[in-house]
Amino acid sequence: MSKAYLEAAIEVAREAGAILREEFDRPAEISYKGDVDIVTQADKRSEKGIVTRLTEFFPEHSIAAEEGTGHEGKSEFRWHVDPLDGTTNFAHGYPCFCVSIALAQRDTLLAAVVFNPFYNELFGAARGLGATLNGKPIHVSKMASVSTSLLCTGFPVQNRQLSPNLQFYGDFTMRSHGVRRDGSAALDLASVAAGRFEGFWEFGLKPWDTAAGVLLIEEAGGKVSDFAGEPYRLGGPVILATNGLIHEEMRAAALGIYERVVGPAKR
Ligand code: IPD
Ligand code: CA
Ligand code: CA
Repeated sequence: MSKAYLEAAIEVAREAGAILREEFDRPAEISYKGDVDIVTQADKRSEKGIVTRLTEFFPEHSIAAEEGTGHEGKSEFRWHVDPLDGTTNFAHGYPCFCVSIALAQRDTLLAAVVFNPFYNELFGAARGLGATLNGKPIHVSKMASVSTSLLCTGFPVQNRQLSPNLQFYGDFTMRSHGVRRDGSAALDLASVAAGRFEGFWEFGLKPWDTAAGVLLIEEAGGKVSDFAGEPYRLGGPVILATNGLIHEEMRAAALGIYERVVGPAKR
């Protein structure tokens, strides 16, 4: 059944991707949700398309979508939808953005799609069936040390001054081959699944940012947790996602930085 859900999600993500591709060629009309958190017509049009189509496919399912047009359904299935992840990139004409769609049955992720329509890269995963990029199987990288890893992170678009992440950014930059900041958490996670990055962390991400990427990484052989090593829960305060081989090294380093910068972590 997960495969059928994945196929529906792929169809819907491709349609939303076509909307984003069309909007990308026009000057972006932006408005602010707060601080530097922006929203464009593309976010809204993409979400409308996704919610409409998912509702046609699965009328009983709930939909949690970033711009607020989802709804509660009668079943235990919930779609997590980011209609445009990487809005800031999109609005500036930087082609690192995607549609992110995932289905969970209670706490279990079943199907996931992350689609970058500019590069026509579609990452997909169904529980137990592996992860793919444009239909070909993908796996996390085999790098076993942080010192030879390429890492990635992101910074919040709300309450930026409260985030401790600049210290993490500096510390991990010195420990690794470098830390990228690409501006789309869903694509960052997909890149870990595809072996392009060895590890990713970020604070304060929402379920629609991470749900698809988490399943992609698990199905590609990687690991996702918090800094204490507890399983990551959607919407949790921090996510650490790696190829598995550098997970413990990165987790211990991150916990050390946290305790140095923020204070003792709750155990
Ligand atoms: C943002 C992106 C960014 C991350 C921010 C998210 P949006 O999502 O994923 O990489 O650093 O925390 O809010 O606003 O482009 O959907
Ligand atoms: Ca997002
Ligand atoms: Ca978004």
